[in-house]
Amino acid sequence: MNFSGMLKEGALKDKVILVTGGGTGLGKSMGKYFMELGAHLIITSRRQEVLDETATEFNEYHGEVLPISGDVRDHKDVKRIIESSLDKFGKIDCLLNNAAGNFISPTERLTPKAFDVIIDIVLKGTYNYSLLLGKHWIDKKHPGVMLNIVTTYAWTGSSFVAPSAAAKGGVLALTRSLASEWVKYGIRCNAIAPGPFPTKGAWDRLFPKPISTFFNFEKSLPMKRYGNHQELANLAAYMLSDYSGYMNGEVVTLDGGEWIYNAGEFNKLEKIPKTAWALIERVVRGKKK
Ligand code: HXC
Ligand code: NAP
Repeated sequence: MNFSGMLKEGALKDKVILVTGGGTGLGKSMGKYFMELGAHLIITSRRQEVLDETATEFNEYHGEVLPISGDVRDHKDVKRIIESSLDKFGKIDCLLNNAAGNFISPTERLTPKAFDVIIDIVLKGTYNYSLLLGKHWIDKKHPGVMLNIVTTYAWTGSSFVAPSAAAKGGVLALTRSLASEWVKYGIRCNAIAPGPFPTKGAWDRLFPKPISTFFNFEKSLPMKRYGNHQELANLAAYMLSDYSGYMNGEVVTLDGGEWIYNAGEFNKLEKIPKTAWALIERVVRGKKK
């Protein structure tokens, strides 16, 4: 397995990239790699102290970082953050819609507010940034790139995370809608659907102790391992870079084959011992006669 950076040195040189949810987890890992490749970064989320800490860690890179707090749900915050970023850098080249909220719960236990909070962070947050920055790019004739982080249950749906599934499904539809509508302005819009990549934010809310004692999630995966953050960062950097200039409206799944493995009609026959197949074949062939 190779968990090192994949792109050429300078592949994102002087690109200005805005990462929502950029202070923690996958947003932080992807942002770090963008900086290694020569980018400047705007990282935003609600907690300024977390953003400041991450920005300090990124000091070793040549590029500049603007850590700026705000709520993706509030379009006034989004406007302020985009304006401050433009004041500092003069341009924004790429948007990574990565911020999210999620927790597991039987849907019948949810209040309307609990549903709202997830839909608002994930779907409204994504369209707030996409709309405001998209308008700016169109106005300035700037060829921007958007990358949205969804999940594989954006198309399968999933029990116990219905608000997140509904919101991510919406983000996927938005990705494809904008990819076709704004291609004429030179704007590309793609998505990544990651499988499980351990982060504190996700694991605290989706695999808390009582759940993880019921089953070993990692062992249930087809590759028997979680994703490595660098594997995701490599893909994200490629999809934001000029190397992916012909990619538009795409959603790339990076899940070690997890969703296909759980979806195929006969995939569970893996559990049948190899030695039983001779008997099964005899029975099946017998039926033909
Ligand atoms: C039921 C819950 C709940 C829970 C909160 N609520 N947690 N209901 N079960 N576990 C309800 C509250 O009671 C309240 O409704 C409403 O939701 C809003 O809760 P607040 O705490 O006021 O919201 P807020 O402070 O804005 O926090 C948002 C949050 C929180 C989403 C609830 O978890 C958060 O800040 N998350 C950000 C980070 C995150 O979630 N990362 C994971 C991303 S992983 P009432 O009606 O009672 O007032 C991911 C995909 C992973 O997205 C896929 C893995 C394979
Ligand atoms: P994470 O660390 O919890 O990331 C979520 C980020 O969003 C946090 O930095 C959080 O910061 C920010 N955020 C939440 N609400 C916000 C709001 N209202 N306004 C601004 N920022 C907000 O979890 P993660 O695992 O890295 O998730 C990153 C992305 O990957 C998400 O889109 C998630 O759905 C997706 N994903 C993750 C996995 C996985 O296995 N980890 C799998 C599939 C998809 P604050 O709390 O400080 O605001």
